[in-house]
Amino acid sequence: MAGFMKTAAFVLAATAVSKVSAQTFSDCNPLFNTTCTPNPAFGTWHDWNFTDSVIADTKIWNTTGGTPDYTDVGAQFTINGKGDSPTLESNFYMFFGQVSVIMKAAPGVGIVSSVVLESDDLDEIDWEWLGGNNTSVETNYFGKGNTTSYDRAIYYDVDDVTGTIHNYTLDWTKEQLQWIVDDKVLRTLKYADALNGENYPQTPMKLKIGIWAGGDPDSNSNGTIEWAGGIVDYHQTPFTMTMERVYVADYSTGSTYTYGDQTGSWESIKIAAGNSTVAQRLSKPHGAEAHYKALPKWAQAAIAAGSVAVFAIALVAFIFCCIKSRRAGRRERDAADAQWEKDMQELAEYKRNSPHGPNGGAGKEYF
Ligand SMILES: *[C@@H]1O[C@H](CO)[C@@H](O)[C@H](O)[C@H]1NC(C)=O
Ligand SMILES: *[C@@H]1O[C@H](CO)[C@@H](O)[C@H](O)[C@H]1NC(C)=O
Ligand SMILES: *[C@@H]1O[C@H](CO)[C@@H](O)[C@H](O)[C@H]1NC(C)=O
Ligand SMILES: *[C@@H]1O[C@H](CO)[C@@H](O)[C@H](O)[C@H]1NC(C)=O
Ligand SMILES: *[C@@H]1O[C@H](CO)[C@@H](O)[C@H](O)[C@H]1NC(C)=O
Ligand SMILES: *[C@@H]1O[C@H](CO)[C@@H](O)[C@H](O)[C@H]1NC(C)=O
Ligand SMILES: *[C@@H]1O[C@H](CO)[C@@H](O)[C@H](O)[C@H]1NC(C)=O
Ligand SMILES: *[C@@H]1O[C@H](CO)[C@@H](O)[C@H](O)[C@H]1NC(C)=O
Ligand SMILES: *[C@@H]1O[C@H](CO)[C@@H](O)[C@H](O)[C@H]1NC(C)=O
Repeated sequence: MAGFMKTAAFVLAATAVSKVSAQTFSDCNPLFNTTCTPNPAFGTWHDWNFTDSVIADTKIWNTTGGTPDYTDVGAQFTINGKGDSPTLESNFYMFFGQVSVIMKAAPGVGIVSSVVLESDDLDEIDWEWLGGNNTSVETNYFGKGNTTSYDRAIYYDVDDVTGTIHNYTLDWTKEQLQWIVDDKVLRTLKYADALNGENYPQTPMKLKIGIWAGGDPDSNSNGTIEWAGGIVDYHQTPFTMTMERVYVADYSTGSTYTYGDQTGSWESIKIAAGNSTVAQRLSKPHGAEAHYKALPKWAQAAIAAGSVAVFAIALVAFIFCCIKSRRAGRRERDAADAQWEKDMQELAEYKRNSPHGPNGGAGKEYF
């Protein structure tokens, strides 16, 4: 989560009470560099209902700053101590679209829960929740990395943001951007109202969902700490944000999005035809996750409970059923069995390293 921290650190200079965090760099900024690689498109829609059997696919989401815990109430992003900032960052980009997060923010003075869309040329759309304020959500935006104005952040009253699940939705088109909570439109930004479109977010965006300690004096300026609501008291940990569901719909379809020139205007974006790799991956369940979901509920429960014996019985039962039902040629069956074995190893490995397993989340994700 260096990204979030860096962005926040930048902020403060402006005023004593800065109200922003803005992305200040990207790996390749197409406004200054004509050789940036195309953005992989999303080009579809998907509803992630995160639970312990639906965890973020690492081919679709990058994880930084720690891994969320997947539980039966959703993906939990927790700060247990200094330096924690679990974040999911999409590998895909959307070019206008809808994002709904069904979630509750983390409590804790100085703790920032954050849902951010950002593009390679530093357009940005934000939701932020400051853990010291249980009744407020911040909305914000930036165009082309322009941070010279600090009046774009607007706070709205929302009841019990840390205790109640709300639906926070962004509806983003080339004409207007809306921040919506539980079907109520809080804020509408028209293209023309953002410096005649110049500051309007309008380039392909990736999605970042995370939590960070804006009130940690070791990694933030005084201005950021003040904005975040004060200094974090790590004796009060854990601070947990819960993401029950994440719905994303890309309003464009295609396989990649490329900046056609250095204007940063939406009209300059070239869309390559075809299905995106993410769309293909989502439309076809794969690997261990698919096998896991195909198992009977009792077998899933056994695996989740980490019962090796029951797991083994489930495995044998499943292989038996599959061999029986698979009347394909021997070669094909062997190949499938090898794949199955590999998947089950991955699954076992995943469970061993999962937050609920013996290693308490020390390991990698496999789905
Ligand atoms: C442009 O991007 C390429 C690829 O990321 C990088 O190697 C190169 O240094 C960049 N050039 C400039 C001027 O930023
Ligand atoms: C999410 O999935 C879980 C487990 O399948 C289910 O119990 C729950 O109702 C789902 N939640 C929503 C909001 O669809
Ligand atoms: C995600 O991780 C992969 C592999 O570590 C890396 O190649 C890719 O650039 C990352 N994507 C983003 C958007 O950071
Ligand atoms: C919470 O934020 C709202 C602005 O949305 C502000 O009016 C209120 O005073 C804040 N409450 C606390 C306890 O800081
Ligand atoms: C940045 O935005 C401010 C208004 O928010 C505007 O006055 C200024 O001209 C913009 N700067 C650039 C380089 O577009
Ligand atoms: C947050 O506010 C709600 C009422 O809106 C209240 O019931 C709840 O106890 C508050 N939680 C905290 C941590 O202050
Ligand atoms: C969230 O709110 C949006 C906008 O009102 C709505 O389209 C969507 O159906 C809602 N999602 C859920 C799960 O309620
Ligand atoms: C930041 O705040 C601390 C504690 O109030 C103070 O000692 C320090 O001088 C401040 N630093 C700056 C750069 O204002
Ligand atoms: C894209 O996916 C759809 C549905 O999955 C399929 O019908 C179509 O042939 C695919 N198009 C390409 C270019 O692969």
